[in-house]
Amino acid sequence: MPSRHDTIVVLDFGSQYTQLIARRIRESRVHSVILAASASLDTIRAYRPSGVVLSGGPASVTGAGRPQWAKAVLREGLPVLGICYGMQVIAHEMGGRVGGAKRREFGRADLRVRDGSDLFRGLAGAGAFAVWMSHGDRIEKLPPGFRAIARTKNAPVAAMKSVHGGRRLYGLQFHPEVAHTAHGAQILKNFVYHICEARPTWTMGSFLHDSIGRIRQRVGRENVLCALSGGVDSLVAAAMTHRAVGAQLTCVFIDNGVMRKHETKQLAKTFRSHRFNCRMVDASVQFRHALGRTTDPEKKRRIIGRQFVKVFNGEARNIGNVRYLVQGTLYPDVIESISHQGPSATIKTHHNVGGLPARMRLKLVEPLRELFKDEVRELGKALGLPDDMIYRHPFPGPGLAIRILGEVTTERLRVLRDADAIFLDELESHGLYRKVWQAFAVLLPVRTVGVMGDQRTYEHVIGLRAVSSVDGMTADWAHLPHPFLGHVANRIINEVHGVNRVVYDISSKPPSTIEWE
Ligand code: XMP
Repeated sequence: MPSRHDTIVVLDFGSQYTQLIARRIRESRVHSVILAASASLDTIRAYRPSGVVLSGGPASVTGAGRPQWAKAVLREGLPVLGICYGMQVIAHEMGGRVGGAKRREFGRADLRVRDGSDLFRGLAGAGAFAVWMSHGDRIEKLPPGFRAIARTKNAPVAAMKSVHGGRRLYGLQFHPEVAHTAHGAQILKNFVYHICEARPTWTMGSFLHDSIGRIRQRVGRENVLCALSGGVDSLVAAAMTHRAVGAQLTCVFIDNGVMRKHETKQLAKTFRSHRFNCRMVDASVQFRHALGRTTDPEKKRRIIGRQFVKVFNGEARNIGNVRYLVQGTLYPDVIESISHQGPSATIKTHHNVGGLPARMRLKLVEPLRELFKDEVRELGKALGLPDDMIYRHPFPGPGLAIRILGEVTTERLRVLRDADAIFLDELESHGLYRKVWQAFAVLLPVRTVGVMGDQRTYEHVIGLRAVSSVDGMTADWAHLPHPFLGHVANRIINEVHGVNRVVYDISSKPPSTIEWE
């Protein structure tokens, strides 16, 4: 567990911004890990942290239901920075008083720095600057041995530090990790570099080097299997493993018959150019047969999931003597399951290779477990993978089966594939593809009336969906230029036989979801 890099431990009290704290620290090239607030002192110590950050959270230090945590961290002599709820925790534990603010503060406030040393180093001359507040409680009385080092109109103690016997405890009532806080990155850097004295050695190059060593050590001379989905995560995980153990790695790509237009061919080309030992398995007939006339989206997902496991199992048996399975699990997936609030409710059954390792008695290799999506992309670059693979939009495992609302037929697949390909092609050529998180076409289960030439038509409707998002958990519809949308609609109606209407989806998530099924 301990990294050879200096590490900052972030204790997660359930703030929606906890991941951002870890990211900002990593952007300063310092390794950081998020642990559940309930982590034991021994677990925290095992990371040999240079410092600890206590995140914000929804609880109140004076109310019931506040998370239990290893308070002794405050007496380890380590630098500790509490953010929002984290600051109130420090104040409460150290003998201060926290109370409900008369005026709760949400959003922008103007911060005035009173002490321009350590946390606010370099910012004393910055005058009042904007910070992002989101709190109900505030510090009413500082703990003994603490001093206020910044204030806002509604919070006389908007930041504090201990001035007592060598303790290095700090608190910020606002959120330095969000983009709306001016100088937020600088404040976190001041904590990390100057107070924790952590060295900025965490680079993708060093991560890659270390990971390759770890994979080699773990796998030894055994054979390794990897299911490539066509997405960036599994590809980067496979590319790293390939660097580590070369021909011991066999990749499997399963064509489930509901991929996008030309997708399988393009992927085969990429895999070949990277000299992966990759088995391209065409199971499209089998998948399509299993889907039959199913219309229920959750059933479609389960059928595709089951078929996937079946085909993949068969391939693994054919290869024989496999002990390890490589998976492109990312850090947000890991954190989701450690958060003290527990994983969020399953809205849709997302199918992946989840059930496989246990059934096949395979041990897991998850080289991306510590990374965020944008870090995976950076790593992809360091591995020399092509941009069109690195910047691909996420694509759901059940593929076009959940973008054809209702029954999946050969004719409806053709219509959707052709319309979708035009949309993506135009996004690319207008330089918009990378500006959106995900974009695709869906085929609606209705027909509408139109007129083409002098003929009345009664044909398919295509929905276009493009969203902006950072993690797919929340999303807004992408405000694509109207002339662009008009151009795409025109092309689809003119070129895709059987379509006479195109609509654009302007719903956000929540309350909608990104996919239509
Ligand atoms: P929703 O539609 O839930 O999608 O807002 C969030 C993200 O998840 C993808 N998605 C899936 N991925 N299997 C997958 O592997 C699925 O069944 C599935 N359903 C949705 C979706 O494309 C988006 O990126």
